Amino acid sequence: MKTDDYKEYISAETMMGPNSVRILEELFHKYPLQLHPDDVILDLGCGTGLTSLIIAKETGARVFADDLWVSAEENGKRFAEWGVGEQITPVCEDANDLHFEKKQFRALISIDSYHYFAGSKGFFQEKLLPFLKDNGVVLIGIPGLKDEYTGRAEELLFNWLGDESYMFKSPKQWKELIGRSDRIESVKTWEMDCFRQAWDDWLAADNKFALGDRQHFETIIKPYTCFVGIYIGLKKTKRDCCY
Ligand SMILES: C[S@@+](CC[C@H](N)C(=O)[O-])C[C@H]1O[C@@H](n2cnc3c(N)ncnc32)[C@H](O)[C@@H]1O
Repeated sequence: MKTDDYKEYISAETMMGPNSVRILEELFHKYPLQLHPDDVILDLGCGTGLTSLIIAKETGARVFADDLWVSAEENGKRFAEWGVGEQITPVCEDANDLHFEKKQFRALISIDSYHYFAGSKGFFQEKLLPFLKDNGVVLIGIPGLKDEYTGRAEELLFNWLGDESYMFKSPKQWKELIGRSDRIESVKTWEMDCFRQAWDDWLAADNKFALGDRQHFETIIKPYTCFVGIYIGLKKTKRDCCY
């Protein structure tokens, strides 16, 4: 996918932070999804549903778009206006307490939101893994700390983020936090390449939160932070292996 193909949807109204479409583009490029025709995808913490739209268009899959702060009604209206109302189901549930069918999703995608709710050890295994199919894939892109500043978020980011600084963790820390399970094949975390472009798009937006971020970009955001990419591949069952 190419971010430029979706320019008409990216605006100060649909963006809630650094351009989520750039982050999604890098994840799709690095880990292309291989889906079956009836696969279902969860976009967790989807915000205004910009990424849900693109996931639906790029994969053709049915998408559940879950967010806590943006209502299902509001997102449902937007999906209908964008012509994807039949393909995307809006949901408004806390990621800590989801009510989907078990082993429903082939892929879980989460952009710029996982750090709000998933920063404790065992969260992934307990709260999300049950909803994923065997051989499923998880793609996450979130703001975090560069590896060299691991553990120093509160000291380095306080003037920008205040009490929310603790949410920023390094690729190394996220790998530890995701942890292990007998259903997980591999976990990869890395510092993403799209940092500058995603931030430039956001800082140019006419949005009061972007204005605040602009004041801290050169002194805090650029020197200490990055986007953390997280890939989790689940194990196949014996049946998956024989197809
Ligand atoms: C910065 S916004 C990003 C939204 C969107 N993914 C994007 O990149 O534009 C963070 C989102 O995380 C969601 N979020 C925070 N805590 C959540 C939770 N416990 N369960 C589900 N979503 C949550 C919020 O509702 C919010 O829309």
